[in-house]
Amino acid sequence: MSAETSGSETLGAEILGTAAKGPQTMGPPTSAQSLPGTVYLVGAGPGDPELLTLKAHRLLSGCDALVYDSLVPRALLDLIPEGCECHFVGKRRGHHSVPQRSTNAVLVELAQRHRCIVRLKGGDPFLFGRGGEEAAHLVNHGVSVQVVPGVTAGIAAPAYAGIPVTHRRAGSSVTFVTGHEEIDKGRPGVDWRGLARCSDGLVIYMGLHNLRQICAELLAGGLVATTPAAVVQQGTVTGQRQLICSLADLADRVEAEGLGSPAIVVIGAVVAERIPQCAPEPAQVEMPIPF
Ligand SMILES: C[S@@+](CC[C@H](N)C(=O)[O-])C[C@H]1O[C@@H](n2cnc3c(N)ncnc32)[C@H](O)[C@@H]1O
Repeated sequence: MSAETSGSETLGAEILGTAAKGPQTMGPPTSAQSLPGTVYLVGAGPGDPELLTLKAHRLLSGCDALVYDSLVPRALLDLIPEGCECHFVGKRRGHHSVPQRSTNAVLVELAQRHRCIVRLKGGDPFLFGRGGEEAAHLVNHGVSVQVVPGVTAGIAAPAYAGIPVTHRRAGSSVTFVTGHEEIDKGRPGVDWRGLARCSDGLVIYMGLHNLRQICAELLAGGLVATTPAAVVQQGTVTGQRQLICSLADLADRVEAEGLGSPAIVVIGAVVAERIPQCAPEPAQVEMPIPF
């Protein structure tokens, strides 16, 4: 397991009890289904609570149960109504995170007792968030499920550093790619050399742990040593840090400056199109687990 947040491991889901404020509201009406509840796979955005969608806000404000993980700001948890049943299924410092099968089981069980269940996930639920796996599991167990897209960290974190992920002069294509893959997933890993040749820009999630190897592969694939690169740690929230340098220097500079997870790595000419003046101030918020 990498030091970065990537999902599953051993313990069971933790019931955090019920929220204790404001009147409880019922969730929105659902379509015909075999179980009473609908699970909404909701994107929480990258951290800044103002990047939450209106739909996510409405669902959070009216949900009967909430299942959330580490990359979700506390300010969003304040939106839930009194009586909402809360389950934390993220990684805790010094502990393993909740295994995916436990999270799946919690969601199915909650759908038997509640009408509106929000499964809140950092960023976008379908981008390196296991949203697809959870949706399939729920459908296979007769549970009504809807996805609510969110603002992904791979666009927002660079934006909060003033970096556009595409640019007419510098990048007509961009690839969202994970730098951390499970070895047992049963298909070939990321072809970094191929990506060096075919994508103008790369936005790498969970990339710090294997960064040295990734950079070496990209250089071997034909990217020049001076290719601009950036790392944005803890994008959009308190403690955001960014580093801009060349691809050749990236791994050493990340190590020397002690950058850590969660972080987005951007590689490509778009980094040189950075406009720091357009970068918003990071939001002063706390995450459930301090980064
Ligand atoms: C399991 S992936 C989840 C991605 C999420 N579904 C999304 O769309 O943003 C977790 C990784 O996303 C990236 N990430 C999430 N939030 C971030 C943030 N606020 N700043 C920088 N990177 C972030 C990091 O690479 C982190 O290790």
